[in-house]
Amino acid sequence: MKLEDIKKSFAKDLSAANDAKALEEIRVKYLGRKDGGLTKILRSLKDLSAAQKKKVGPAANALRDNIEKELKRKLGQLLNINNQLQEGFDVTLPGKKIGVGHLHILTQMENEIRDIFSRLNFSAVEGPEVETEHYNFDALNIPPDHPARDMWDTFWVQSTRRTKTEDVEGKLLRTHTSPVQIRFMESHQPPFQIIVPGRVFRYEATDASHEINFHQVEGLMVGPNVTLANFKYIIETFFKQLFGPEIGIRFRPSYFPFVEPGLEVDIKLSSDQTKLMASRKSEWLEVMGAGMVHPNVFKSVGYDPKKVQGFAFGLGVERLAMIKYKIDDIRLFHSGDLRFINQF
Ligand code: DAH
Repeated sequence: MKLEDIKKSFAKDLSAANDAKALEEIRVKYLGRKDGGLTKILRSLKDLSAAQKKKVGPAANALRDNIEKELKRKLGQLLNINNQLQEGFDVTLPGKKIGVGHLHILTQMENEIRDIFSRLNFSAVEGPEVETEHYNFDALNIPPDHPARDMWDTFWVQSTRRTKTEDVEGKLLRTHTSPVQIRFMESHQPPFQIIVPGRVFRYEATDASHEINFHQVEGLMVGPNVTLANFKYIIETFFKQLFGPEIGIRFRPSYFPFVEPGLEVDIKLSSDQTKLMASRKSEWLEVMGAGMVHPNVFKSVGYDPKKVQGFAFGLGVERLAMIKYKIDDIRLFHSGDLRFINQF
C-alpha cells in the first residue's frame, strides 16, 4: 500500500470507530508489529535506495506520529462522551428548542401607559384589591344611600355590606382604582402627580365588552393651581403618544360623585375599528372618566379645598388594548388561549 492510501483508509476507519476496542483494532491494523500496514512500509525501507529512503522515510514516520496522535485524540473524545452519558446527559442528542415566554398583552399595555406617564413626571403607586366600603365609596363622596353606588356593581366579601342600622364596615373587591386616591392623599401632601395601575372587579354579566375582572389606571394631580387646562394638556399628550399624533380626542361633560365638574374623554376610532365594535353606531368611543376633584373628597382626607385643587381620571386598560390592537372581545384577555396570547 502506498502512504497516501494508508492515510485515507485510516481516516475512514477512524471516523467509523465508536469505542475503545475499535480504536485498538485500528492501531493493530496500521501500526501492529507483525503486519501493520505502516510497519511493513517502515520495514521495507532498508531495501530502498538511499535517495528513496530519504523521501519515504520521513513521510512514513510523520504518518506514524500522526496516526498515534489521532488515535489518542479520538480515545479521549470517546471517553468524555461516555462519562457524560453515565451522568445521564447525552451530548449527542440534538438540542431541544426551549419556548421563551413573553409579557401578556395587558402587561405590555400597562407598561406602555406607565412609561408615558412617567415621562410626564407621574409616579406610579398601588393599593389593595380588597377594600373597605369607606375607601371604595364613602370617602369618594358616595355615602351608603347615594344612588350613584349603583354605577358600580359590587362583589361584597362575606355579605358584610353595611346596612343603615348596623355600623359594621363592609369589605369588598374594589370596583375601581379611585380608592387609592384617598389612601395616597391621607399619607402625602400636595403638590404631587400619581398614576395607580391595578385590577378591579365588577359583579356583572360578561359579554364581549364586559368582564367581572379588568384593569384600570387612575390618575391624580393635586396642587395649589392645578386646572382643567393642565388636565387637557396631559391627557392629549398621553393619547397622542399612545395612538399617534393624528388621534381625535373629545371632552364631554359627565357625572361622577367624586369630581365637579365631571367629564368623559372619547377618542375617535378609525373605520375598521368602528366596524370591529359591532354594536357601535358612533365612531367616538368613551375611554376615560375624569374631572376636578370634589371638595368633599379633599375634606375626607383633611385637605383644605380652598387651598388646593386638582384633577383625577380613570381609564380602562383592556379597552385601550382592544382599540390599539383591534381585539373584539374583552373575554379573550383572560381566556388563557395561547393562539390569542402569542399574537402580541
Ligand atoms: N372610577 C371611575 C370608574 O371606575 C372612573 C373615574 C371617573 C375615575 C372619574 C376618576 C374620575 O378618577 O375622576 O368608573
